[in-house]
Amino acid sequence: MRSACLSLLLVTACWAIALPPVRLPGLHDGGREPGAPSMPTGPKCPFRCQCHLRVVQCSDLGLKNVPEDIPDDTTLLDLQNNKITEIKENDFKNLKGLHALILVNNKITTIHAKALNPLTKLQRLYLSKNLLKDVPANMPKSLQELRIHENEITKIKKSSFQGMSHVIVMELGSNPLKGAGLEAGAFGDLKKVSYIRIADTNITEIPKGLPSSLSELHLDGNKITKVTADSLKGLKNLAKLGLSYNDISSVENGTLGNVPHLRELHMDNNALTSVPSGLPEHKYIQVVYLHANKIAAVGTEDFCPPGFNTKKAMYSGISLFSNPVPYWEVQPITFRCVFDRSAIQLGNYRKK
Ligand SMILES: *[C@@H]1O[C@H](CO)[C@@H](O)[C@H](O)[C@H]1NC(C)=O
Ligand SMILES: *[C@@H]1O[C@H](CO)[C@@H](O)[C@H](O)[C@H]1NC(C)=O
Repeated sequence: MRSACLSLLLVTACWAIALPPVRLPGLHDGGREPGAPSMPTGPKCPFRCQCHLRVVQCSDLGLKNVPEDIPDDTTLLDLQNNKITEIKENDFKNLKGLHALILVNNKITTIHAKALNPLTKLQRLYLSKNLLKDVPANMPKSLQELRIHENEITKIKKSSFQGMSHVIVMELGSNPLKGAGLEAGAFGDLKKVSYIRIADTNITEIPKGLPSSLSELHLDGNKITKVTADSLKGLKNLAKLGLSYNDISSVENGTLGNVPHLRELHMDNNALTSVPSGLPEHKYIQVVYLHANKIAAVGTEDFCPPGFNTKKAMYSGISLFSNPVPYWEVQPITFRCVFDRSAIQLGNYRKK
């Protein structure tokens, strides 16, 4: 009996190796090859998951743990929409070739400090919609994209992103970050980062020490009260700045001069009392959203340089509606450098 089992095991193992790595659908239905063992076998794939072309798809299965038997050569592992509560030390032990790990919408509260160590090729880590209180420790240095919004992270430490010089996209929104929320220099090592989003977190200031590689910064829906020139210093590649739905009452003189390549400035739904200075001299600005503020007056030099046809870039969107300034008091000459009149949304002031 014992030797029969052993020989059956051997046959099974040999057969598994002989099979091509990709299992075509339908191969196992119907006609079994003559001489093949009667036990269902094939390339390993976790129960109920689908494995195809090194992609292991285990989403929406009600899983409480990371499954075992994930093939070692997996490049993408999708575990979203499950009920996983914890990532254990050895969950990803053999997945040295993994490029993308999707754990969105689980109930993860802890990730073992060594759990991500084996993933030396990981580029994308998606952890949004979980219950994490901290940024995971020891994230792979190869990471290019980190999405960790909608968790319970209260603080980003200076050491959180240490050495992560390949990160391009960072999504940290909808976390209960308190006060400044981020330790100064937390982003210092992200030398290639181009997109950072920290929206809906209630941080009270623009994070300090942002890398000069940044081209998009989205900080909408926070509790930022002012924009200082210093906070955007050195961001020579910044093209889009989102600051809508904050409590900003002032933009310091010189701020726009620090972001010479800015194209879009979204500052609607704040507490501004005047149009930020520096727009007439700015070469590339195209979109300026200022609706729903407390702007009581708009001057003829607020948007355009003196004279005509002197501005290089063309405005494609200016919004000023829902401000206390009556639109008939804004002189048409204010927009002399705007070639497309439909780009301007003036409108009326309506009290909500
Ligand atoms: C931000 O503050 C408001 C109350 O002012 C609160 O309702 C909301 O949950 C907070 N957001 C986060 C992500 O903590
Ligand atoms: C803003 O700075 C510019 C030069 O940097 C200066 O000409 C202008 O008067 C300043 N405006 C205010 C309101 O301080």
